[in-house]
Amino acid sequence: MRIIIEKDYAGVSRRAADFVEALLRRKPNAVLGLATGSTPLGLYRELIRRHKDEGLDFSGVTTFNLDEYYGLAPDHPQSYHHFMRVNLFDHINVPGDNINIPSGTAKNIAKSCDDYERKIREFGGIDLQILGIGSDGHIAFNEPGSSLASRTRPKTLAPETIRDNARFFGEGEEVPKFAITMGVGTILESAACLLLATGKGKARILAEAVEGPVTSQVTASALQLHPHAIVIADDEAASCLKRRAYYEHVERVSSGFGGES
Ligand code: GLP
Repeated sequence: MRIIIEKDYAGVSRRAADFVEALLRRKPNAVLGLATGSTPLGLYRELIRRHKDEGLDFSGVTTFNLDEYYGLAPDHPQSYHHFMRVNLFDHINVPGDNINIPSGTAKNIAKSCDDYERKIREFGGIDLQILGIGSDGHIAFNEPGSSLASRTRPKTLAPETIRDNARFFGEGEEVPKFAITMGVGTILESAACLLLATGKGKARILAEAVEGPVTSQVTASALQLHPHAIVIADDEAASCLKRRAYYEHVERVSSGFGGES
């Protein structure tokens, strides 16, 4: 794993945008895996800025999002479809037909999950998957106990996740208890994974994911099995990493190798 530590949230967002931009310059028809949550918002703002000010072009890009709440229609204000439109897609030039997000309302959920997996394969797989980390260590909505070989499927949300995500919902509004999510196995098939973690609240769980055992109890730890997993953390989120000094040393001295894994 490559661990990059930046001073603050803005630094993490810019650094993550650099990885996306480098990919798009190398491969204008790249397949991007996208995440929701508050962590990637700065990255999305930076991509929008580079699109508007510097002409970063998304016209050939295809996107696959990690997850969606079960039962929420695409126009529901708390749906991840809506989140992605408002925070990214409405402001860049990715064609609408190239955007893929799991359906939270499909009549045949199992079929729609299989179709999602098939479509990712048809597009040659995901080149770069953006990830956040939940406070229980989940990636996408792969809650503790998720099979590390899991594929896109429905998942029952953990009480901790429902509590965390309640802040996005209005008072009295019910937070969904289920989601449709890419599996850990799906995510691990991406050519590269970029996990962003910011703030004190993520420090303990990030250390477990990066330096603890690979376990389905902390599904982000499965990234240790990935040959091209990069973590970008801010100072606060990196504060519980035991080998922090080594990771910083690696970043200072190894740039000539073109990246560690
Ligand atoms: C949700 C999403 C995850 C995200 C997590 C963390 O559970 N399904 O993909 O990583 O929230 O969110 P935040 O970035 O707001 O801490």
